[in-house]
Amino acid sequence: MAKTIQAIRGMNDCSPIETPLWQWVENNVRNVLQSYGYSEVRMPIVESTPLFARAIGEVTDVVSKEMYTFWDNDEQLTLRPEGTAGCVRAAIEHGWIYNNEQRLWYMGPMFRHERPQKGRYRQFHQAGVEVFGIANPDIDAELILLTARLWKELGIDQHVSLQLNSIGSLEARKNYRSALVEFLQQHIDLLSDEEKERLEKNPLRILDSKNQALQDVLNGAPKLLDYLDEESRAHFAQLCTLLDEMGIAYEVNPKLVRGLDYYNKTVFEWVTSALGAQGTVCGGGRYDGLVEQLGGHATTGVGFAMGLERLVLLVQEVNQHIAPSRAVDIYVVHTGEGTTLPAFQLAEKLRTNLPHLRTMTHCSGGNFKKQFKRADKVGAKFALVIGESEAQNQQVVVKDLLGGEQQVLAQADVVDFLETAFK
Ligand code: HAM
Repeated sequence: MAKTIQAIRGMNDCSPIETPLWQWVENNVRNVLQSYGYSEVRMPIVESTPLFARAIGEVTDVVSKEMYTFWDNDEQLTLRPEGTAGCVRAAIEHGWIYNNEQRLWYMGPMFRHERPQKGRYRQFHQAGVEVFGIANPDIDAELILLTARLWKELGIDQHVSLQLNSIGSLEARKNYRSALVEFLQQHIDLLSDEEKERLEKNPLRILDSKNQALQDVLNGAPKLLDYLDEESRAHFAQLCTLLDEMGIAYEVNPKLVRGLDYYNKTVFEWVTSALGAQGTVCGGGRYDGLVEQLGGHATTGVGFAMGLERLVLLVQEVNQHIAPSRAVDIYVVHTGEGTTLPAFQLAEKLRTNLPHLRTMTHCSGGNFKKQFKRADKVGAKFALVIGESEAQNQQVVVKDLLGGEQQVLAQADVVDFLETAFK
């Protein structure tokens, strides 16, 4: 036998057993976004490499070591590691945000060359939201309300919590950076080689170090919130007040800085302890400078993205009664001379009149026994049987596969019968 070829490490297939749960999660995401009036956009999976370098930042982990980049003749291209950069690029390119407010969402695969483990993959899927042209913190609150509603719909609201922080203006962060570097230099012996490198390039990322000894010391480090500019402070206070009034619980986490460079003011993450190390199911924040940085007219932005693999895992973990089924409802069995056409016609009639039911027609022949076995295997509740005499008399045998009873009906009466049976 020829040697088989396997999927790429960290890139997963989604089996027919798993897709119903994925579709259920995705449909919930779509419905919630629609109920807030957001519009879907779709961007290419491949973009020009400098877009990500400029938007996300050269010294971030994502850009410096996780991008799938290749040359297409003399142009360097990258498989998108996230959706914000492409969405901003598209919004500028097509004038979506010129003098206009936009509330947009997208869903699709993203690619990061990370070390695969549970909840962390090289091809993963995000649903993301980007809102342009609204500077007020009320929109930050709306994004959080929207996600909170989605967690309720998915039945995971008791298993996620909200971490919130403000990282202020660029200027405030510069001042804070100096204070943090000064503090960390006093504890340099606790830093790993990688953290020492970060100390020079991106010291704020050291705040979410996994090193416990360093974390203990960091509790005494200067706090970003103490360095905030007045405007960011007021923005954050208004957001917190609105969340309090709307009954959304959160924890202010002064160490939350996020891994992408475009943020300012509000940053947030929804985290869970039910998934081990990869506990962030959703992250986002404000990026008021990004549109201008990528060549557009100054326009504020705020958004988030959630990891669909992590949401699916969490639903499986904590909400096991949700088991969307892929079973079909009706299986059309037919055998004998002249039975294929009436079977196909009957099945089409059912799909036209009862589109919410899943009707499967047996294909490739075989005796009744084999066909009933197949009907059981796909989980059908009813078999509709057409043999030669039913075909001649425009009749059908309706067999209840769970209860066992069967009856003969005129083909003309089957729609009404099934409509009642599935009510
Ligand atoms: P991010 O925090 O890099 O933000 O990713 C958002 C979410 O995607 C994470 O919280 C996680 O659930 C999921 N995720 C990230 N990497 C992986 C991976 N390797 N495997 C599985 N899931 C993963 C962004 O991407 C920003 N663009 C979010 C945003 C939109 N900010 C403003 N607007």
